[in-house]
Amino acid sequence: MKDIIILGIETSCDETSAAVVVNGKKVLSNVISSQIDIHKQYGGVVPEIASRKHVELIIPVIDQAIKDSGIDIKEIDAVGVTYGPGLVGALLVGLSAAKGLAFSMNKPLIGVHHIEGHISANYVEHEELKPPFVCLVASGGHSHIVLVQDYSKFKILGQTRDDAAGEAFDKIARAIGLGYPGGPLIDKAAKSGRKDAIAFPRVYFKDSLDFSFSGLKTAVLNYLNSQQQKGSTYSVEDVSASFQSAVVDVLVHNTIQAATDHGVDKVALAGGVASNSELRKSMKESAGEKGLKVYYPSPVLCTDNAAMIACAAYFEFLKGNVSSFDLNAEPGLKLAER
Ligand code: KG4
Ligand code: ZN
Repeated sequence: MKDIIILGIETSCDETSAAVVVNGKKVLSNVISSQIDIHKQYGGVVPEIASRKHVELIIPVIDQAIKDSGIDIKEIDAVGVTYGPGLVGALLVGLSAAKGLAFSMNKPLIGVHHIEGHISANYVEHEELKPPFVCLVASGGHSHIVLVQDYSKFKILGQTRDDAAGEAFDKIARAIGLGYPGGPLIDKAAKSGRKDAIAFPRVYFKDSLDFSFSGLKTAVLNYLNSQQQKGSTYSVEDVSASFQSAVVDVLVHNTIQAATDHGVDKVALAGGVASNSELRKSMKESAGEKGLKVYYPSPVLCTDNAAMIACAAYFEFLKGNVSSFDLNAEPGLKLAER
């Protein structure tokens, strides 16, 4: 069969990214221009600034991705692009560029759900991973447990009722003065802290695999305030390790429960939080006890990138799922029903 070459484009949040991927697996290029340094000074992503930066960066990033791939742009079979969920102004920049390119080259346009992209990042490096499996998607904007029934068929088994896991990491990191984005900084600080130093709450719902992290966030903030009021200091490392352990325990428990409930023998991690070293370690341990295999992408494919979008677009392309040119950005796009 002829190779299918897809140009992927991702601009849903604060990364401007373009990638060229062959057959949903072979990454010829994956250019990621992160705006973290700009948003860092505000402690989080400022949507209007993100959109403006995407406008400046999108063409150079696409040019670079084509150049790095070593292919001629005419060899591309389709253009895959994130059209939701995300920041509407940011999404529109990538979507407009993708439409312009696809239309001018007379190639199909494939709209990709951002979470489907995160899940698909797992296929890039794990040849043997095929649906069905359970995927924990934990990022700055989402915390979902997804039953991946087929390449583009999903069922939501659980999701956060308030903050996303990455959002909780970012907020706590800010409160303890670590900066933005908080996940990697807490992960690092936690390595020299004790996870049993402070007993933070773990929230489990009866008859539901949903998550809730806002109570945990409040408990950490209360602990910090009470230490301050007492005139005591606190250990950033111990707070990091204890908080991280509370998040990880719930993520791991619910994901393993989902896999056993649905009789699947594989579990995958996806999204920025999937880079977390404690989550990876703990998921492997718990899954191992139940005889489940665990998969996760390399860190560069966990956080937002266009290679994962090109990979998801490939599977949609194989199914003939091509988008029309009136495709609009959908900030609240749902992956599937519950
Ligand atoms: O997938 P992503 O790039 O963006 C969204 O789609 O939201 O995820 C970014 C999130 C941030 O909240 C960041 O703090 C978190 O992923 N993150 C981590 C780690 N690396 C990134 N959280 C915990 N531990 C990490 N090592
Ligand atoms: Zn993401």
